Amino acid sequence: MKKVIIIGATSGIGRELVKLYAKSGALVGATGRRGDLLYTLQLEYPNNVLTECFDVTSQENIAHLELLITKMNGVDLLLYNAGYGEPSDKLDWEIDRKTVNTNVNGFLTLVNYMFNYFEHQGYGHIAATSSIASIRGSSRAPAYSASKAFMSTYMEGLYIKAKKRNVSGNAEKKIVITDIQPGFVRTKMANGYGKFWVAPVKKAASQIFTAIEHKKWRVYITHRWWLIAKLMKWMPEFIYIRIG
Ligand SMILES: NC(=O)c1ccc[n+]([C@@H]2O[C@H](COP(=O)([O-])OP(=O)(O)OC[C@H]3O[C@@H](n4cnc5c(N)ncnc54)[C@H](OP(=O)(O)O)[C@@H]3O)[C@@H](O)[C@H]2O)c1
Repeated sequence: MKKVIIIGATSGIGRELVKLYAKSGALVGATGRRGDLLYTLQLEYPNNVLTECFDVTSQENIAHLELLITKMNGVDLLLYNAGYGEPSDKLDWEIDRKTVNTNVNGFLTLVNYMFNYFEHQGYGHIAATSSIASIRGSSRAPAYSASKAFMSTYMEGLYIKAKKRNVSGNAEKKIVITDIQPGFVRTKMANGYGKFWVAPVKKAASQIFTAIEHKKWRVYITHRWWLIAKLMKWMPEFIYIRIG
């Protein structure tokens, strides 16, 4: 039975992924701060879902993760999907602080721990939901785009580190890294931004599930956001400054 932990699984993309993994027969460890929403997931899939209620920004985040791994008797895949972001038109300190605490500090603490855990175990898979917003700075949400760039660049570093490590190892026992970059997905998170090509949550989750299971290194969700990613990356500054 595959063992999967999803950090940030109470709503939106993460909740849908819990359902997909549970339906596929995996044992899923679901986390988030809203205990009532975790409880309803467990009620829906009593044989496949275990939960751990915690805040990724708390000092006890690693202790909670360890407790969940113990309850599940191990883990093969961890998806860091928790995220926070709001438009910060007036450059709000609270928004910026919360964004960095969740998307950088929480991410770094848990993913760093898991890479070393998998190194010790000999194999494992880490995935993280960054964003298309990681590609260029955003004047509407500067901390959000910067935090997602941190995630994405860190994942690239881990991807190369894992590749180098895997070369000398057993072909069956590898550490796999997946960076997931969604465009817009119809969740609370997408509120307030100038939106287009907004994907339904089920479609986004299904594409993420397939990409993870195919052990893709980087994936754009939905796939056509690949085009926007390339356009954003190579767009000259004098044009980008009008839209960024
Ligand atoms: N929707 C989009 O258009 C879009 C686009 C690009 C990237 N993304 C990324 O996709 C991921 C999922 O977002 P979503 O769209 O599905 O939004 P969502 O429904 O708001 O989900 C966010 C999840 O993160 C958890 N979370 C947030 N802060 C947390 C904290 N401090 N501690 C523990 N858990 C926390 C939430 O759980 P609790 O509130 O229960 O703690 C929730 O389960 C995020 O990383 C987001 O940045 C979304």
